[in-house]
Amino acid sequence: MNHQPILVTCGLPYTNGRCHLGHLRTYVPADFFVRFLRRTGQEVVFICGSDNHGTPIVVSAEEEGILPRDLSLRYHKHFDETFKQLSINFDHFGMTDGEVNHRRTRSIVQRLIDKGYVYKKTIQQSYCAKCCRFLPDRYVEGNCPYCGVSARGDECDQGCGRHLEPGEIKNPRCRVCGQSAELREQEHYYFKLSEFRDFLLSYLPDLGGTVIARNYAIGWVKEELHDWCITRTLDWGVRFPGAEHLVVYVWVDAPIGYISFTEEWAEKTGEDWKAFWCGDIAPVTHFIGSDIIYHHTIFWPAMLKGAGYGVPEAIVASGMLKVNDQKFSKSRGYVVWTGEDYLEKGMSPDYLRYYLLSYTNHTKDLNFAWKVFQERMNNEVVGTLGNFIYRTLYFAYKFFGQIPETSPDETISAEIQRSIDRIETSVRAYEFKSAVDELMALAAYGNSYIQNNAPWQVVKTDRQAAETIIRTCLQIVHALTLLLEPVMPVSAQKVWSMLGNNDDVGTHRFSEALDPLPPRTLPAPQPPFQKIEDENVRELEATLQARVEAAQMKAKSREEVSIEDFGKIDIRVGTITSAVPVKGSKKLLKLQVHVGEEERQIVGGIAEFYSAEELVGKEVVVVLNLKPVKIFGIESRGMILAAGDQASLLVPLRPVEPGTKVR
Ligand code: MF3
Ligand code: ZN
Repeated sequence: MNHQPILVTCGLPYTNGRCHLGHLRTYVPADFFVRFLRRTGQEVVFICGSDNHGTPIVVSAEEEGILPRDLSLRYHKHFDETFKQLSINFDHFGMTDGEVNHRRTRSIVQRLIDKGYVYKKTIQQSYCAKCCRFLPDRYVEGNCPYCGVSARGDECDQGCGRHLEPGEIKNPRCRVCGQSAELREQEHYYFKLSEFRDFLLSYLPDLGGTVIARNYAIGWVKEELHDWCITRTLDWGVRFPGAEHLVVYVWVDAPIGYISFTEEWAEKTGEDWKAFWCGDIAPVTHFIGSDIIYHHTIFWPAMLKGAGYGVPEAIVASGMLKVNDQKFSKSRGYVVWTGEDYLEKGMSPDYLRYYLLSYTNHTKDLNFAWKVFQERMNNEVVGTLGNFIYRTLYFAYKFFGQIPETSPDETISAEIQRSIDRIETSVRAYEFKSAVDELMALAAYGNSYIQNNAPWQVVKTDRQAAETIIRTCLQIVHALTLLLEPVMPVSAQKVWSMLGNNDDVGTHRFSEALDPLPPRTLPAPQPPFQKIEDENVRELEATLQARVEAAQMKAKSREEVSIEDFGKIDIRVGTITSAVPVKGSKKLLKLQVHVGEEERQIVGGIAEFYSAEELVGKEVVVVLNLKPVKIFGIESRGMILAAGDQASLLVPLRPVEPGTKVR
């Protein structure tokens, strides 16, 4: 057993929006990993916090008309609470705008300056003459200089994924007012990243964690390392030591948050934060999304090394989330909100954890779809795992009322031990899906065991033999419960209590899986998992569908049409000469409209809002060249324009000749 504690962190969420399943793709596996290590006896400190600085927060706050600090406090609280609801239990959840992080960041930057790793440079920076300000990072949009795709100031987020330096973006536009930006000179500070090439080339090949993170990083270092501009023209952030009109770039103070939050945790607990960050005493593992590998494998270790701190031992990068096989996108509506769409619908936090951990390998993209979600929960969690646990507990309770005082089948110890060993191997290789599969394989083994041995039959003729069968099943349930804790902690606790325990399953270790079970009384069991009903899924799917459609409408309304295309629509003023109700319809009126040379018959859905009499003689606006259609068997050649739910008719402000073109 390893007595040396390890530190595990998760990428810090920006405090400018709600938690969605894309976030959980990193946090749930990290929490699983931490719980797992603790169940093996490893001491772990689990640290996270919120990322409060940078333009993402300033831009959002400005859009809402509030202060960045207030926006940050709101979402900080939101993330903290959401994580707790999902049993993602950090030992400390800090804020990068906290006083400790301001201090630690300034001290590290000062160290880098003192050691000669920072230099001053005058650069051309995007400036908006209309808004009268420099445009750092997300304040500016344009095209990626490498791949040409539209990008934002600091990152080619929709194309090649490269980090962009200030002034690099092509065709810069102000994101706030849309005006083309001009370039103005400004003095900024750079970090000599290029000097860390040799260090990185020796550090990266031994970096632990996922292969993907390591290989990307080595590729980038071999390509070329650009120095990093580490200052920004903003009011919100950590002031740059020696140039207080500037703040440090958010990617400087955010990862330093990992250190500051460890300090805050150490302050609370009386532990020593330096063990993790000042040398090779206790290792650090970062869990992150694959979109921020560059920052964690290149920039962060170089900064730590430069300032004389220890460097991370492992970087574990998770794949990204898809929704209904589409790339996750808030603006396109492909998003599932953790609160609104899931927890607030009364869905089980444990189910979501199971899905995120077991759907696919940690480094691959993970697709979320409600139908698949339902199938997997109902078949695997309810059908296999829940069924076995409940049958075992039910028969034990019914026939014996307690854990039978006998030994389990001899073969079972080896079976359980094999599962534990395989699970441990998988987890240590960050193959969380395989680990959950192994767990389910043990449950499936239990299911066939109980089915084949049919204790409900045996008990009628041989009570002793039935005791052994049930006792064997109980040993499997006991082992499964310990192994389930990192995946579904709430459910594991429930089963643990049904096994007659009255303590916290999270205080036990996997090594107890084979311990003899004392013959204690069993409470009446309940099925540990509930099926997800079709009706439920239909509703959840409809919500998602509606969101995607709303996003499409919004995108359409922003789509531009040329003046030529607009000119193809023949819109004219006309006078209504007759209006009669359409038989069999409460809503429709058959209208004759005089539009100059001709009379048009148009069927309109306005009977609920206007009487036939009040319409006759009115001038209205009509689209003439729509394809004719038949409504209720009546031909309609054109459309009368109206607005809103009450079909308020569009009319010319001053009278014009019927047939006059609208331009
Ligand atoms: N807030 C960043 C993001 O969401 C992640 C910051 S992680 C840290 O992409 F390393 F900077 F802390
Ligand atoms: Zn690009």
